[in-house]
Amino acid sequence: MTKVFNIAVIPGDGIGTEVVAEGVKILKQIQQLDSTIKFQFTHFPWGCEYYLQTGKMMDDDGMERLAKFDAIYLGAVGYPTVPDHLSLRELLLKIRVGFDQYVNLRPVKLLNGAPCPLKDKGPKDIDFVVIRENSEGEYAGLGEWFNEGTPDEYVYQIGKFTRKGTERVIRYAFELARAEGRKRVTSVTKGNALNYSMVFWDKIFAEVSKDYPDIQANQLMVDAASMNFVLHPERFDVVVTSNLFGDILTDLGASISGGMGMCAGDNLNPEGTYPSMFESIHGSAPDIAGKGIANPIAEIWSAANMLKHLGLKHWHDKILQAIEVLLLDKQTLTPDLGGNATTSQVGDALCKILTTL
Ligand code: NAD
Ligand code: IPM
Ligand code: MN
Repeated sequence: MTKVFNIAVIPGDGIGTEVVAEGVKILKQIQQLDSTIKFQFTHFPWGCEYYLQTGKMMDDDGMERLAKFDAIYLGAVGYPTVPDHLSLRELLLKIRVGFDQYVNLRPVKLLNGAPCPLKDKGPKDIDFVVIRENSEGEYAGLGEWFNEGTPDEYVYQIGKFTRKGTERVIRYAFELARAEGRKRVTSVTKGNALNYSMVFWDKIFAEVSKDYPDIQANQLMVDAASMNFVLHPERFDVVVTSNLFGDILTDLGASISGGMGMCAGDNLNPEGTYPSMFESIHGSAPDIAGKGIANPIAEIWSAANMLKHLGLKHWHDKILQAIEVLLLDKQTLTPDLGGNATTSQVGDALCKILTTL
């Protein structure tokens, strides 16, 4: 029997459109190879160019329309002539928060054949998952601007950390550790300086960890965690952290596991009340947009994660296996990985490898 999956595709801006095309190419290839699967793609032209034409980042009924899909596949958002704090809040963050995608799951996994800047570290040392709180915290968008334009100008940027929001994401991290046979959860905070938000988070982490005596609970300050991402990545298994710290740490995570072109991120609504969204963690990369040289692996990995979420883990595993074959072969790599292939040549090569697995 054929299973039909309805996927909302939002390519977005810059290299988002280029890498999403390759992800869709891979999904179409899988549909060719597996007659039990059918994807129905609906493309939405939302993003900064749409904003420049219409004054809106997405249509007014956009969230209602997206709510009906099995999953959302997103490229990247951001354009040099549109202020980021407007464009991102009106599209990317609107979906993350509006669909209560409170878990941002970002694997930090060095694949076989991927470049690593760390001396003496390999795939066995770099294999962990960052669980970033994705619905509140420092990204709550709260604050105020006082005395604008005067010498006494100042602002408040307020973080909002709720018990419910903090507890559920920490619990998710422990449950994930259990489900995946991982041994340790490290909470990354900054309780020595942030005397409300992070003291609160640390307290809730201590409470929740008591329910998981089989998992080692560990705590680190974000500055020390940054150091250990570089010096001792093998010490991490599952990391749980706040919205802002998770954002920063996962670019560092990407850098030790092949670079920005290699890292995927899932925005999950674990209860399934709303669709989850899958995207690479990189942005629209205006510096290379339009040149056809963006690495599509991160976005293809995101497509693989979407398949896992849809109950097709075997295809997730095959895509990752195909990426490893491509990396080890070294013949079809984009410039960020030291090659001279184009974005679409990488997509084509992966489609071909998939036929052989
Ligand atoms: P970026 O991730 O777009 O780029 C950082 C660097 O990494 C650039 O040098 C870029 O060329 C390189 N890079 C990124 N992805 C790559 C890929 N697939 N292949 C090869 N090289 C790649 O970050 P930025 O430059 O700080 O942001 C650009 C825009 O994207 C901004 O508007 C920003 O707000 C936005 N942004 C959006 C998202 C998102 O939609 N999820 C994420 C991050 C940044
Ligand atoms: C990411 C991005 C976004 C974030 C920005 C563009 C708002 O950096 O997905 O990592 O900070 O979450
Ligand atoms: Mn980021």
